[in-house]
Amino acid sequence: MTDQAKDRVYIFDTTLRDGEQSPGATMTHDEKLEIAELLDDMGVDIIEAGFPIASEGDFRAVSEIAERSKNSVICGLARAQLNDIDRCWEAVKHANRPRIHTFIGTSPLHRAIPNLTMDEMAERIHDTVTHARNLCDNVQWSPMDATRTEHDYLCRVVEIAIKAGATTINIPDTVGYTAPVESAELIRMLINKVPGADEIIFATHCHNDLGMATANSLAAVEAGARQIECTINGLGERAGNTALEEVVMALKVRGDIMPFETHIDTKKIMHISRRVATVSGFPVQYNKAIVGKNAFAHESGIHQDGMLKNKETFEIMRPEDVGLAGTSLPLGKHSGRAALRAKLKDLGVDVGDNQLKDIFVRFKDLADRKKEVFDEDILALVTAAMTDGADHLEIVSLKVVCGTGGPAEATLEMEVGGEEKSTVMEGDGPVDATFKAVRALYPNSARLQLYQVNAVTEGTDAQATVSVRLEEDGKIATGQSADTDTVYASAKAYVNALNRLHVRRSKTGSDQKEISYKDVG
Ligand code: KIV
Ligand code: ZN
Repeated sequence: MTDQAKDRVYIFDTTLRDGEQSPGATMTHDEKLEIAELLDDMGVDIIEAGFPIASEGDFRAVSEIAERSKNSVICGLARAQLNDIDRCWEAVKHANRPRIHTFIGTSPLHRAIPNLTMDEMAERIHDTVTHARNLCDNVQWSPMDATRTEHDYLCRVVEIAIKAGATTINIPDTVGYTAPVESAELIRMLINKVPGADEIIFATHCHNDLGMATANSLAAVEAGARQIECTINGLGERAGNTALEEVVMALKVRGDIMPFETHIDTKKIMHISRRVATVSGFPVQYNKAIVGKNAFAHESGIHQDGMLKNKETFEIMRPEDVGLAGTSLPLGKHSGRAALRAKLKDLGVDVGDNQLKDIFVRFKDLADRKKEVFDEDILALVTAAMTDGADHLEIVSLKVVCGTGGPAEATLEMEVGGEEKSTVMEGDGPVDATFKAVRALYPNSARLQLYQVNAVTEGTDAQATVSVRLEEDGKIATGQSADTDTVYASAKAYVNALNRLHVRRSKTGSDQKEISYKDVG
């Protein structure tokens, strides 16, 4: 089938709303702007930028993303309440192409929460969609928990929403309960039974609780849905959402049996996946489809032999298709700035002259300590350069003595709000001693929820990336860092997370979630 004959499927990315909702994945304002720009550049049709009434921070982020948007439609989420919808419109109206997305839980379990009868809820849907449509000519409506809503009632409320002016009807599998056959049947049933269904676009929004989100989304498309809601790396509540990279690459690779096209520039997938992993603090699992570190790695002799003879023996898509440099030529300590710039370009990283200078200094320092500097090393350096800055806490020096026969001892010098402080602390191992030293210089009540170390490249001189997740008074912050010295990387990741908590603390009242997300899947 030629491309011309393929039906267009719109990609609706909700990394900044549903994705950011996953506990611990909170992004800063600047990070949200950066991700929105990457999504816009890669060809995402609709960006759900946030939930404007949820907090001042969400409102500001959605407004600024709307103002800066280029091609994408910018959408904000609103509950079925007039003031939510007004607030959403205030934020998205700056976009060239704004959209209001309003929703209400329609299944028996969800109807019980606001304690509305079927008729009362139907009336609420009519009133809120009408209100949204009076503000904006692009309105999306979602019956939350649609896959567990009685079919008759679902048809009734979808019809009401269409008549009230909704232009897109999204059918969420909020709890990841459906299966591909059922997902397709539900969309087909709605298209066949609901008057006016042919005038709007049906969307599919699947959660991954049973690992079927991508399959369910594609089945819905086969049945007639033309918008897929998804997130980068499948980020999202609980087990996450449909992953953008999976649906887009599945449609590209299996266009023979699924003749649908998207307008996503797939070469930008790898870069945005890595940036989202970094800023959300949710590393990508190694064997994750498309974007995992091992997705294009071939270990066994038979596979390697096949690959050398003909890549198609074990590869259904090329690494280049998703933006991975085909052949990875390592840089070394003799490589110059031009080589580094070329490598960054290859990796899809666009940096200004000042940032290049900073990354080059870090690169030279690493190349002195490490024989070969691989693509992953470079990306870890870029991440480190982008996350360092004028922070409240900055490590000046760290020395750790450890081994058998006694506790480890960490000597730490650190700037705290511009003031240099130092301490020596003992601990049960080098990381424990280091974290105790950080706490001695910057007393805090944050609880360590996660400490994770990964090697980004092979060998004993590999850089370690460390992720740390902290919790303080219900607020969660994550920090990441990379270095060939695992203890130093751990200290930097810990300090990074503390810096984020510091920023959030100083913004208390403005950046806190003001409403409960419990009723949002
Ligand atoms: O999962 C869900 O039902 C949602 C809605 C708000 C669309 O995220
Ligand atoms: Zn959801």
